[in-house]
Amino acid sequence: MNDPRIAQLYLPPGMIDFGAGQPSPALLPLALLKKAAANRLDGNDPSFLAYGTNQGDGYFRTVLADYLSEHYHIVADSDQLFVTSGASMGLDLLCTLFARPGDTIFVEEPSYFLALRIFADHHLKIISLPMDSGGLSIEALEENLIRHSPVFLYTIPTFHNPSSVTLGVERRKQLVELSLKHNFLIIADEVYHLLNYGHEPPPPMASLIDSNTVLSLGSFSKILAPGLRLGWIQTAPQLLKRINDCGFLDSGGGLNPFTSAVVRSAIEMGLQQSQLATLKTTYAERKTALGKALRENLPNSINFVEPDGGFFIWLVFPDKVDTKRMLVEARQNNVGYLPGVKFSSTGKLKNCARLSFSYFDVPELEEGARRLADVFKTYMNDK
Ligand SMILES: Cc1ncc(COP(=O)(O)O)c(C=O)c1O
Repeated sequence: MNDPRIAQLYLPPGMIDFGAGQPSPALLPLALLKKAAANRLDGNDPSFLAYGTNQGDGYFRTVLADYLSEHYHIVADSDQLFVTSGASMGLDLLCTLFARPGDTIFVEEPSYFLALRIFADHHLKIISLPMDSGGLSIEALEENLIRHSPVFLYTIPTFHNPSSVTLGVERRKQLVELSLKHNFLIIADEVYHLLNYGHEPPPPMASLIDSNTVLSLGSFSKILAPGLRLGWIQTAPQLLKRINDCGFLDSGGGLNPFTSAVVRSAIEMGLQQSQLATLKTTYAERKTALGKALRENLPNSINFVEPDGGFFIWLVFPDKVDTKRMLVEARQNNVGYLPGVKFSSTGKLKNCARLSFSYFDVPELEEGARRLADVFKTYMNDK
């Protein structure tokens, strides 16, 4: 698995890289998918091997709608769902269909660094909006709406990447009201919504699609396996029609009929549900262990909040720390993280760092926290 020829992530032996925001190899559900695939392949219906319908496999969408109704606690309908090859691809498609080069978009500061790359590919003009412990600042949004007319706002409302903050219920409603008043779309990246380790988060933005302004991105990458490249967009029929009508679907048919069929079996057989439960238990343990190890090893001058869900702990170092520079020292000590500046569209957040607890198990997380504390001490002494 740790093989640069096939996997995105390659870690030198001994390296505890908190930058790795993905499941550890042991959490990838090989046996589960073997069962699900056998269930589908043992049948007599080969239709999932043909070109699919533009919107994506209808049987899969029906099963997914039931799954979302149960786990999002909303009434989801298969007609509201479009099958993607993952949230990244969904986001790229929405940029293609709803924005033109030079258009203004709003993002949160910090924001998911790879989404920023997608926006750069589309030559979009990014305006960043601050967040606080309750998520995106609605005040800042209102202020910016006086000066700018964004085509869309990209938000990660629940268990944010990288800050792990969750947008409150009231702000979600205000966001939608503002989108209607100022005529912009909301692209809500909700890939962590189902990974809560304590209280249930507020209802997803997917519950607000009747406004005709919300597009919710979901993915099996975080709740089953990233290699499946399977996700969905949930939105109102009017917006869905724009997606379904696009040329590359007319040519290639719907996305991932084969994977959709296998994952449909995984849901029908209760395997998806058991995998989600396993992931939640494992990540909750890892999150608690990393939080404890950081509290025990890091000085009080470094702030962080232990999250209720998702993959990340966001560290805020004293202002004078440059986490990109400190990373050189960290790597020499076999520990890594993602420096805060990566998540900024304005070159800020230099004193922050994102740690992920999804990849390593508890003893490694504890050792990583100790190494990080040593690196920080040396860095401060050298200054
Ligand atoms: C906020 C966010 N969106 C999207 C993705 C990627 O999702 P997918 O694998 O479905 O493309 C990630 C993965 O790290 C993420 O954190």
